[in-house]
Amino acid sequence: MERQSGIQSAESIIELNERFRGAGPEVVLRWAIDTFAPKLALASSFGAEDMVLIDMLSKLEPATTIFTLDTGRLHEETYDIMERTRERYKVAIESYFPGRDAVEALERERGFYSFRQSIEERKFCCRVRKVEPLGRALLNVDAWITGLRREQAATRTGIDAVEIDASHGSIVKINPLVDWTESQVWAYIREHDVPSNALHDQGFPSIGCAPCTRAIKPGEDVRAGRWWWENPETKECGLHLESGHGDHGARG
Ligand code: ADX
Ligand code: SF4
Repeated sequence: MERQSGIQSAESIIELNERFRGAGPEVVLRWAIDTFAPKLALASSFGAEDMVLIDMLSKLEPATTIFTLDTGRLHEETYDIMERTRERYKVAIESYFPGRDAVEALERERGFYSFRQSIEERKFCCRVRKVEPLGRALLNVDAWITGLRREQAATRTGIDAVEIDASHGSIVKINPLVDWTESQVWAYIREHDVPSNALHDQGFPSIGCAPCTRAIKPGEDVRAGRWWWENPETKECGLHLESGHGDHGARG
């Protein structure tokens, strides 16, 4: 069943995206807070983009919910930045775990590295450990914020600042950093002394689960270290598949 988003038409989404073009992420966040808070949440993996958004939200509306999908396979450094974030910003982080029965069955029946066997097995693991928990995290919100940027991947070049998320009951999905470059992200982090995941300094621009993320070599694409054994076109875990202007479904 579709939930009320307050933004019903494809036209209103197009108008919003025109209004926000070049306006800057804080303007988008201010609108998101005024329109949706408290039924608004930031999805954070505590990568550089999400840290920028946490810092901005701490200044605009510190009560904004921050949630993370703790897949059970994260790096130690990721737990470390989560803890530093709690301390620095005095925020509670809502952690969503995968279903116990589903993980127990996955490991019993498919082993501990099933995601290496095929794209289907990899997507199955992502479905159990990320996609199902994300569905629960979004049950009680009208809009969610992400750190997605167009520049990040072949699968992301068509995203907008404001989208309708068809795969989650047509709630609103907000990507305030959509047109930022990686250098803008890092310039903000330095200027505002924002904490960051120690793995970034070890050649990890994009950080997911430990067994599915590695450092990249100079000159490699920023997502080259994610599921590095797959083609760029398949490298999405299912968190970000079906959004748009409200008049269509999957982007493919
Ligand atoms: S992923 O789909 O390939 O894993 P990526 O790591 O690029 O995504 O992150 C894009 C955005 O998805 C992040 O900025 C964040 O909003 C959200 N996200 C990704 N992983 C998580 C996670 N484990 N918990 C919460 N949000 C996440
Ligand atoms: Fe499983 Fe790897 Fe996906 Fe994490 S990124 S949920 S370990 S397949």
